[in-house]
Amino acid sequence: MGTVVYSICLTALHYGLGSCIEDQGVFYPEVLRDLAGIPDTKRIMIAIAMGYPDPDFPANRLKSSRVPVDEITTWVGFE
Ligand SMILES: Cc1cc2nc3c(=O)[nH]c(=O)nc-3n(C[C@H](O)[C@H](O)[C@H](O)COP(=O)(O)O)c2cc1C
Repeated sequence: MGTVVYSICLTALHYGLGSCIEDQGVFYPEVLRDLAGIPDTKRIMIAIAMGYPDPDFPANRLKSSRVPVDEITTWVGFE
């Protein structure tokens, strides 16, 4: 699931689309089923909100902090 989801997000980015992975679609499936016409016979595993980013929208200027990659990664054989 992770591989598929991130492939979709990265492909979207290539086409200029922003995305936000959301498990809200799993927790509140009736909203998504209604909006997207998804029947009860299909199980919703994850949702991805997508759209063209508006860099001027204040919330989009927020930069969340990240620990350095090396702090959470052990590289073996790539020194
Ligand atoms: C599997 C998964 C499910 C997520 N579900 C939600 C969600 O339901 N609501 C939400 O606000 N963010 C959710 N997120 C986090 C957002 O996709 C995003 O990573 C987060 O808003 C942090 O944004 P940033 O990476 O730009 O800091 C989820 C992330 C993952 C990987």
